[in-house]
Amino acid sequence: MNYTLIHKNIPVADLTLDEATGSIQRIDALLHGEHLPVGVSVRHGAADRAALNDWWEDRSIPASRSGVREALETLGVASSKLLLTRCYGLSLSDHYWIKPANSELTWHDVNFFENPFSEDVGDALFGIPPKKEGFDFSSPDNTTDGFLKKRWKILDGKCYLIKAGSPPFLQQPFNEVIASKVAGWLGIPHIPYTLLWDDGVPYSVCEDFVTPDTELIPAWRVMQIQKKENQTSVYQHYRNCCEALGVPNVAHALDQMIVLDYLIANEDRHLNNFGLLRNPDTQEWLGPAPIYDSGSSLGYDKVTAQIRSGRNITCKP
Ligand SMILES: Nc1ncnc2c1ncn2[C@@H]1O[C@H](COP(=O)(O)OP(=O)(O)OP(=O)(O)O)[C@@H](O)[C@H]1O
Ligand SMILES: [Mg+2]
Repeated sequence: MNYTLIHKNIPVADLTLDEATGSIQRIDALLHGEHLPVGVSVRHGAADRAALNDWWEDRSIPASRSGVREALETLGVASSKLLLTRCYGLSLSDHYWIKPANSELTWHDVNFFENPFSEDVGDALFGIPPKKEGFDFSSPDNTTDGFLKKRWKILDGKCYLIKAGSPPFLQQPFNEVIASKVAGWLGIPHIPYTLLWDDGVPYSVCEDFVTPDTELIPAWRVMQIQKKENQTSVYQHYRNCCEALGVPNVAHALDQMIVLDYLIANEDRHLNNFGLLRNPDTQEWLGPAPIYDSGSSLGYDKVTAQIRSGRNITCKP
């Protein structure tokens, strides 16, 4: 299967994808190396295929996602990587996509910022039996990562991410709301979350903070642009990478996030749970993304006695 990887409107590379696994088998031509995903390097005119494959795989729903195995079984799809090709690899968090060879499609025709998407994959992920006919795979749910059950929905013309909690307490949706309120009181740039009850189950709801003119680049990708020396802390390495890219205002935002995470005892601020915003057309760095995904905090999976004792609760900035 031949495709062109495209960054919004700029063709980046011609690719051959393995039909059985959905992996990038070959990079047939590098067209605009400067638009490769951040952290994918070019050596002697050739892009690092392994690094591009890592990026591609990270784009799919992780195997650890709550309910994904059942959903894939229902859909008759062997792995979540194979879902990527069914929606042109499109996302609501950045502007990369793949165009089948010989297709005349443009970004304008397909992107989910300007075009509606199907509810079918979201329904499957939420355990709703699939339609018998006309199942439509075009959905940003195929390209959204994270452990918790989630789906995108269009409400009043805007895109929202609806996210569940994990058993037994289903507490993350409440914590997202509390964490965003705390961030607000402290004047820390953040994504507001609200609570939604559906059939007795709580969900958090937040609006897409990415727009046709911005995209999210997670810290994990930023940190691939140079090698971390053993003696350099992760904190310093991230700052060094941001400095090398010329991103403004990172240190203050990073420190604000660490303070917030300390106050709410966030146990899950891993390197895909914060990042930077960039203009996809000019590739200009706009600065740190507002804080999102703070729900695995406030003793979300602990009983009260454990929270009181304070033992085995490690905030993980
Ligand atoms: N409001 C938003 N706008 C755009 N993209 C978002 C938004 N919220 C989340 N995302 C993207 O969706 C991904 C998954 O969301 P999120 O991190 O909230 O899920 P999670 O299941 O809690 O993740 P984790 O596995 O880290 O617990 C994020 O890593 C980010 O790329
Ligand atoms: Mg996350």
